[in-house]
Amino acid sequence: MKNILHLVHYIVVLFVLNIPSIENVDRSNFKTCEQSGFCRRQRKYKPDRSSYEIDLNTIKIVKSGHLRCLLLDNTKSHVKFKLDIFTLEHNSLRVKINERNPIRRRYEVKHSLVGEPKLVDMNITNLDGNQIQGSFGKAARFLLHVKPFRLDLFTNDMFVMSVNSKHLFNFEHYRKKTQSNKTTTDNDSEDGMWEETFKTHKDSKPYGPSSIGVDVNFINFENVYGIPEHADAFSLRSTHDGDPYRLYNVDIFEYDLQNPMALYGSVPYMLAHGEHATVGFFWMNAAEGWIDVNHNKNLFSTATKPITDNIEIPEVTTHWMFESGIFDGFFFMGPTPRDIFKQYTTITGAAPLPPLWAIAYHQCRWNYIDEDDVRGVLNGFEQHQIPLDVIWLDIEHTNGKRYFTWDLKKFPNPEKLQNDIAFYRRKLVTISDPHIKKDDAYHIYSEAKARGYFVKTKDGQDYEGSCWPGSSMWLDFFNPDISQWYSQRYLLENYKGSTENLFLWNDMNEPSVFNGPEITFPKDLVHHGGWEDREVHNLYGMLQHMSTFQGLVNRSHGHIRPFLLTRSFFAGSQRTAAVWTGDNSAQWSHLKVTVPMLLSLSVTGFGFIGADVGGFFSNPDPKLLVRWYQAAAYQPFYREHAHIDTTRREPWLFGNDNTRLIRQSIEARYTYLPYWYTLFYKQERQGVPPMLPLWANFPKDKNTFKTEDSFMIGNGLLVYPVADADINQISVYFPGENTIWYDLRTFNPYKGSETVLINVNMESIPAYQLGGVIIPRRLRKRRSSMIALNDPITLIVTLDRYLEAKGELYMDDGYTYDYRRKRQLVHRRFIFKNNELRSKSLDTSSKFVTEAWIERIIVLGYPKNPNKVIINSGDKHATPLHSYQAATHTLVIRRPGPLVTSDWTLTIS
Ligand code: NOJ
Repeated sequence: MKNILHLVHYIVVLFVLNIPSIENVDRSNFKTCEQSGFCRRQRKYKPDRSSYEIDLNTIKIVKSGHLRCLLLDNTKSHVKFKLDIFTLEHNSLRVKINERNPIRRRYEVKHSLVGEPKLVDMNITNLDGNQIQGSFGKAARFLLHVKPFRLDLFTNDMFVMSVNSKHLFNFEHYRKKTQSNKTTTDNDSEDGMWEETFKTHKDSKPYGPSSIGVDVNFINFENVYGIPEHADAFSLRSTHDGDPYRLYNVDIFEYDLQNPMALYGSVPYMLAHGEHATVGFFWMNAAEGWIDVNHNKNLFSTATKPITDNIEIPEVTTHWMFESGIFDGFFFMGPTPRDIFKQYTTITGAAPLPPLWAIAYHQCRWNYIDEDDVRGVLNGFEQHQIPLDVIWLDIEHTNGKRYFTWDLKKFPNPEKLQNDIAFYRRKLVTISDPHIKKDDAYHIYSEAKARGYFVKTKDGQDYEGSCWPGSSMWLDFFNPDISQWYSQRYLLENYKGSTENLFLWNDMNEPSVFNGPEITFPKDLVHHGGWEDREVHNLYGMLQHMSTFQGLVNRSHGHIRPFLLTRSFFAGSQRTAAVWTGDNSAQWSHLKVTVPMLLSLSVTGFGFIGADVGGFFSNPDPKLLVRWYQAAAYQPFYREHAHIDTTRREPWLFGNDNTRLIRQSIEARYTYLPYWYTLFYKQERQGVPPMLPLWANFPKDKNTFKTEDSFMIGNGLLVYPVADADINQISVYFPGENTIWYDLRTFNPYKGSETVLINVNMESIPAYQLGGVIIPRRLRKRRSSMIALNDPITLIVTLDRYLEAKGELYMDDGYTYDYRRKRQLVHRRFIFKNNELRSKSLDTSSKFVTEAWIERIIVLGYPKNPNKVIINSGDKHATPLHSYQAATHTLVIRRPGPLVTSDWTLTIS
């Protein structure tokens, strides 16, 4: 049976996708900019002077925080555009530009917004008839140039961003197709406007051209980041020698690295970071996009503030091109990295706190074949004493890829299976893709068909394409009734065989269509409301997973936090799903690229992210597998997953030594769960992702701006994964001036701003704790995270040069919404200062009761052996045992004893 599956899969992949080898992506399946009409037109557009001008007479303040005026295109069409500027809370600005009287409505994305952005006052001055100045927020300012139109942005009086200063603003208004514009080429501007063919696929373009291009330039910056998803560098490269970065959700089979091709998800959000500031630009547009990036040096001056006289300063110029929609740009003025995280997530929402078990270890494979197989794998984890929280079932568990069903020969009793999995409070995840098998006997299909719930062709027929089940149709999630209906499919009464112990995985939701253009929907398909796929394409996956999320919330009447993994995503997806980087390969280069790919997602709002451990395609050699387990132990979402054609990969199949090394990696992950969980809680509250680029913690350290071989977890842990075969040394840069870093295995301290060669062997997972930080850990070994919920905590205190440190701990029941609804949580702050360590509540209304207590405190960098250690908690005093190692300046205090929920002070004398 397995062999038949292999065969069928290869036939589908090689034949339908026309892929000659499985080594690399067949690029010819995907458009280059030259092959995309609008990208070609926009990239060619290079006027000497912009033809767009503001009509000064039309400027008015609609209400406090909202300025409106007309923008005219003078040379060509005399089309009028509405320009709206909104000043928003948290130092942010929104600018919208749309046609004033379009002959067809243009699509405006709403789903990315967490709510209606809140306006704050703007203080307007008309400078000299050619410039309008508006100040807002914390020392932020915009300058609107009238002729030609240009927008400059300042933060703390520094010139940071500029729009249309390179004259690339070019708005293709809707127009009627006339005989003349059908035949004339009008300086090539008609190129690809009314019809386009790619391979055998014709795009009918019934509404003609509608693209928008504009330059957004980051002044005094050398590095820009973001705009995932690409398998490329973290600090974005210049694109002048090749294609722009592309944003178009597609299913790429075996993606190549170091190139700007589109992948499964799109977030049109870019950040710039320099020593002086961090800023961001988010263009909320769900159509296909291309972005050119160039690093330049330029002379700058503006009317209000010359930046510098005749000194060249760096600038990153970016040229954004979208096929359709409106200009809806958000400018985040920072100025610090943490401000930027707050500003972006105020608009698009912060990722919520996942259930505790979801940030522990997951075991997946395409496919665990049947119930016995699943039980066998669980037993393997028992026998080899490896912790595990979640086991996954891929598409083969269904009855012929009919989601919400089970192959009852292989899974005769799914409820019993889930109850057994739950014995150690473990969970099951099943897959549910958006393609629906065309089969009248399949209840989901027949009901959706009867209700008219499928996406339509331009002629109003149900669109039919091919995916895993063969002939399929796709639900039109753009219709709220359909989304609601879909979410109800996840209720226990509708999803037969599911229990509250089952969670979800939405895959192939770009959507992947094996016989579609670029393996996805034709652009002229029609969604609810009459919108073409062209206008909304990048939202499809997000709408599916938002609806799945809602189904899971409703399943428990809002009591239990869902877990859900999605492959496709858009800005805002972070509110309801975790994301992984799709079908990577078992190669060292793919292990390396996990860091830049995950960092690009992190800085654009996605905190709960990961990559398939070991690489999805091919068989990793055991060294690579071990190194991948080690690296991913320190990345937010930790899941082993492999293609159906690979050999089995459970952690104990590679000899005792490798089993031990993998066990150690997973155990290391479990020891840090209290820290991870605290960081995820902070992300929900403050928008700061748990995995961070070094510059987010050391914004002034220039050596970190291009770093992509290491990353930080929170502000306390620096991780340098070993991602090369056969090396016995790595070069580690310790960021920050006057910092101290502690190796957590040897307790050796290292000085900041220095690069050190560190010896590594197969046991090493180079990770360093910053002096000045307190990290809570759980060192007892257990089978799953949830049965360790009330286990005691060890505090690792690493002192800075002032002999101080601080940290936090967050805890709750690990799986319900009671932390929000009933304040069932513990949130503590620990401060070490003047030889005292104190624990204080950060949330006095918190009510969580737990037996968890502090069982050990390890202080690194403590200068001398103390005489006495006393702990006071309420009216109780105790003198716990302590030991001191002079060689490593390590003080260990055993069983100090207080509950994590109580206030206490430890005094060292
Ligand atoms: C594609 C996904 O990326 C992969 O993880 C999954 O195993 C296969 N689809 C089969 O469902």
